[in-house]
Amino acid sequence: MNQDPLKVLCPVSESPEATERIGRSLGSLLMPGDIVLLDGDLGAGKTVLTRGIASGLGLKPDVASPTYTLVFEHEAEGRGTDLFHFDVYRITGTEEFLSSGLDEYFERGGVCVIEWGTKVEEALPVEPIRAWLKGTGAERTICLRFPAGDEMRLARFRELLTNQPGIRL
Ligand SMILES: Nc1ncnc2c1ncn2[C@@H]1O[C@H](COP(=O)(O)OP(=O)(O)O)[C@@H](O)[C@H]1O
Ligand SMILES: [Mg+2]
Repeated sequence: MNQDPLKVLCPVSESPEATERIGRSLGSLLMPGDIVLLDGDLGAGKTVLTRGIASGLGLKPDVASPTYTLVFEHEAEGRGTDLFHFDVYRITGTEEFLSSGLDEYFERGGVCVIEWGTKVEEALPVEPIRAWLKGTGAERTICLRFPAGDEMRLARFRELLTNQPGIRL
């Protein structure tokens, strides 16, 4: 990945709770139509991060892993933003994603978070926000990259993560 500090931020999380807070900060910056791709090995913390994103969007944090269902819909009350949480581990790639009609979620005006999302990146209608998670012990490095031209959001994200316990920038 391009490590340009204007485009990429790689906080180190020291606990699941810190990862959830990183997700919450990210979620607070997301807008309807945003797509977030999450990549990293099984158990890296993609679902934990998504739980935080849900909370940052103001949704109830009942986020489980949609490994068997492909997508969980978290509908917001009132004027909040919906979250569509995918896990595409079990699908082969873009072709299966499209033939299953899953791209219809991109038209629904919510935020889409896709675990193992790089597998289906050719199906995306917009440039996504990307997160790569690495590590197996208590510490996980979570590299985030915003789309080109979105430096303001990255800067705001950096501010939100500054001086948070359990998060090193
Ligand atoms: N710093 C950390 N961040 C996130 N998860 C962590 C961390 N340290 C330990 N864990 C554990 O790693 C696991 C991550 O699981 P999960 O989020 O379901 O992974 P994935 O969705 O990437 O397969 C959880 O059991 C969590 O408690
Ligand atoms: Mg998961």
